[in-house]
Amino acid sequence: MKHLIAANWKMNPQTMAEAKRLFNSVKEGIKNIKNVEIVICPPFVYLSSFKFQVPGFRLGAQDCFWENPPTGEGAFTGEISPAMLRNLAVKYAIIGHSERRKYQKETDEMVNKKIKTALKNDLKPVLCIENVSQVKRGLEGISKEGLKNMVIAYEPVFAIGTGKPCSPEKAEKVRKAIKSATNADIPILYGGSVNSQNAGSYIEKAGFQGLLVGGASLNPEEFIKIVKNVSRA
Ligand code: PGA
Repeated sequence: MKHLIAANWKMNPQTMAEAKRLFNSVKEGIKNIKNVEIVICPPFVYLSSFKFQVPGFRLGAQDCFWENPPTGEGAFTGEISPAMLRNLAVKYAIIGHSERRKYQKETDEMVNKKIKTALKNDLKPVLCIENVSQVKRGLEGISKEGLKNMVIAYEPVFAIGTGKPCSPEKAEKVRKAIKSATNADIPILYGGSVNSQNAGSYIEKAGFQGLLVGGASLNPEEFIKIVKNVSRA
């Protein structure tokens, strides 16, 4: 199975020109890498300009809403439906990121609804969790078929944006616990202060199928190194 590296740009950069520059630098640096799927997750407002078909790259959103017309009829100010994302060639959607759980007060119930609607609309949800009970609640009622299109990202909050990554040993334990809780072959990513020094260890030592990279994905040189290290792992 291919490794998967998702770049979570969060609320960056501040202009379209910078976003294009960032993507182009990454693209230039990562040619001919065949064993890694790279998912670029820019803010919603840049997605339409990235409606790309670049080999090896996919587009991801950082969230999506749990209603999708005709059921929701569109009266949800400020929200973005999975169908809108699919129409922009978006393939993945990060759902339940800890920053959304914290600042937008997203609950496991909301996360579960978002996953269900995303799956119905052919988006692959990347469910972010920090413990096994969030996995169980997030995946409640999702069919075996649905689980085949899921990705899970283990993101311990203490490691996010702090420069204090989780040790590969501890991360591996949680990865195994997630695997036995889901009883399905779902790719599991690690996220939290990933950099070019530690990226390979989460794949080689801890057995993750990929990475969710925040801060380091905004630095093209660093991100390119991460991808190359994972490709060699
Ligand atoms: P970080 O963020 O790599 O900056 O720690 C990861 C994330 O929030 O997905």
